[in-house]
Amino acid sequence: MRAGLSPVRDVVKMLVTRAESSDNHPVLRDKNLIPLSHQHQHALALCARIDRGTHSPDICLEPWLAEIQFIFDQEIRIHFAAEEKVLFPAAEAFADLRALVAELRQDHETLRAFFSRAAARTLDQPGLREFAATLSRHIRKEERQLFEGMQRLSPAQLVELGARLGHELAAASQACIVPSEATRLRAK
Ligand SMILES: [Fe+2]
Ligand SMILES: [Fe+2]
Repeated sequence: MRAGLSPVRDVVKMLVTRAESSDNHPVLRDKNLIPLSHQHQHALALCARIDRGTHSPDICLEPWLAEIQFIFDQEIRIHFAAEEKVLFPAAEAFADLRALVAELRQDHETLRAFFSRAAARTLDQPGLREFAATLSRHIRKEERQLFEGMQRLSPAQLVELGARLGHELAAASQACIVPSEATRLRAK
């Protein structure tokens, strides 16, 4: 067991997938941050499919751009807003996280510009791949640096944070992200 885990029963530490681990060992995630981590997994799965499925410069972009537009409208738009309204201000209470939060806020603006280009169908193949790399880097920063740092909050503060995040994310809870026939990964 990792050093420093609280024995307090109302802060149940749960395993999240290896996808967010920096060293291929599962990381422990407080249950109040799990809904955000689940959405990170959806986005990382899309990034992985883009990385593996868009090498050729003559790919058909339309299904990829349509899927990016869909996941932004259904989930990421709400996810970004919840982070900016609830998570980032809570993180800024820690002086050593403020520079990271400023970087993450800037990432959101960069990513929103990518999403706008996808919706306008002006994102080309190199841009699509740059988008996936930028999004996956952003998520890994949140999982490995921000979430790890925020788990210093007290159990009561984490519960309150989780409740506020749950409220903000409720609108995205019914979203169902399904790859299209054109963007699904196939066994080689
Ligand atoms: Fe974010
Ligand atoms: Fe996030």
